[in-house]
Amino acid sequence: MLWVGALALLCSVQSTFQTDAGLKGRITQKGLDYGRQVGMEVLKSQLQKMVIPDISGTHHVPVVGDVDYTVSGIQIQDFQLPESVVGLSPGTGIKLSISNAKILITGYWHVKVMFIRDSGSFDLSVDGLTISAVLGVTHDESGRPAVWNAGCSSNVGGLHVTFHGGASWLYNLFTGALEGPLRGQLNANLCPEVDTAIGQLEGILKTIQVSAQIDPFAEIDYSLVSAPQITDQNMDLDFKGEFYNVGHHSEPPYTPAPFSILGQSDQMLYIGVSEFFANSAGFVYFTSGALQINLTDNMIPKESPIRLNTESFGAIIPELPKRYPSMPMMLHLSALKQPMLTCQPGRLDLAASGSVAAFVILRNSTLAPVFLLQLDSTVKGQVFISEQKISGSLALNNFTVSLTHSDVGPFKVETLQTMLFWALQLVVIPEVNAKLREGFPLPTIANLRLVTPTVTVNQGHMLITTDVQY
Ligand SMILES: *[C@@H]1O[C@H](CO)[C@@H](O)[C@H](O)[C@H]1NC(C)=O
Ligand SMILES: *[C@@H]1O[C@H](CO)[C@@H](O)[C@H](O)[C@H]1NC(C)=O
Ligand SMILES: *[C@@H]1O[C@H](CO)[C@@H](O)[C@H](O)[C@H]1NC(C)=O
Repeated sequence: MLWVGALALLCSVQSTFQTDAGLKGRITQKGLDYGRQVGMEVLKSQLQKMVIPDISGTHHVPVVGDVDYTVSGIQIQDFQLPESVVGLSPGTGIKLSISNAKILITGYWHVKVMFIRDSGSFDLSVDGLTISAVLGVTHDESGRPAVWNAGCSSNVGGLHVTFHGGASWLYNLFTGALEGPLRGQLNANLCPEVDTAIGQLEGILKTIQVSAQIDPFAEIDYSLVSAPQITDQNMDLDFKGEFYNVGHHSEPPYTPAPFSILGQSDQMLYIGVSEFFANSAGFVYFTSGALQINLTDNMIPKESPIRLNTESFGAIIPELPKRYPSMPMMLHLSALKQPMLTCQPGRLDLAASGSVAAFVILRNSTLAPVFLLQLDSTVKGQVFISEQKISGSLALNNFTVSLTHSDVGPFKVETLQTMLFWALQLVVIPEVNAKLREGFPLPTIANLRLVTPTVTVNQGHMLITTDVQY
């Protein structure tokens, strides 16, 4: 019973992870309209490659008898798509309709009637061509988007043939016979071609990456956690959006808080980045031991009057230079718990706490511990977006220092606090900022580039608003 209970608990925890997204995306009608422009070019080239088989048949003409005809070498010369509309099909996917399309086709004709044979070429124009197709959109078990053909219909309006070469009385005999089958052939081929195109798209989607390694420690999981939610306004996508340790996946002790992208639809694309996404990064770097740094004197800018040695610290801790005269020191800073980011309208705050272990570097390079401090700080963050990555910077807000242990007698921590403030300000923060500037890549599909992206901070998440270019 216990085992079953534990399993049930595990499954319910698992399902929480499955439904709450760390990253969200929204594609709007404007985004679809742009996609239509790109899609039309693809469709046009697809239809131009369409192969129409030769047509032959017999047509009975009173008095004259049977007319045997063959039409061959049929090629689509031009395809015009003046009117096309892309919209959302709520609950299913994307609907596409093309109307009043025109096609210009050329080919050769051969006729045999009684003992007479004749041949020539022809031009055929088709107009009033209509195709309506619905592209179903969902996700597969690997978290990739998946598409299917959720319906297609086509209709061909007018069809006009002009013959060249040969004797006009002959081809006039079978013109009527030709138009019907040609229309039928065309109609029968349009939807299968749409189906082929959808199959190719599905093939491309199968190859997209759903995770990306950032550095030796971390990778990001971008997989879809649920099928896209499609209304008549927007298509909303829920991505896992979580950092993991490379090689082994362990979950942080908190889950993403639900959030949504509300009432936004003027730009092509919206990307919601949750606190959870950022904090899962903090968790990974903390648990993999990456959140630590050793400060030595050579890392302190030359201009600084405060040096990392026993003489400089002597002003605060007189016992230090007495015991270790004129010796270099090292500070080992490490996080005590993972830094936590909070998003509030217009601001980002990062709370971090760490320990500072101070050592004297002895002549034989041995480190002699002298004191241990705890440091709690709040940091204000900024976030930037450029090209296809998100990056940030930090500025120290305030911090407090408390003495945990001293091997060199009691001393006033307040004075040390000022000194450490500068150490953080001049060395640690620039180091962290250099790392943050490198940024984290955003999910990319094919050759989509973000155009004029902006980022705003809302309660619990950041919202990236952008147009895209293919
Ligand atoms: C800091 O220095 C200590 C002692 O030399 C060493 O064991 C540790 O690996 C160093 N840590 C980093 C992050 O360089
Ligand atoms: C380094 O020097 C200190 C004192 O000078 C001594 O106590 C320590 O044993 C020495 N360590 C090594 C590895 O020689
Ligand atoms: C640090 O800043 C935060 C937020 O501005 C504030 O709540 C906190 O009291 C400050 N701490 C100190 C020690 O000034």
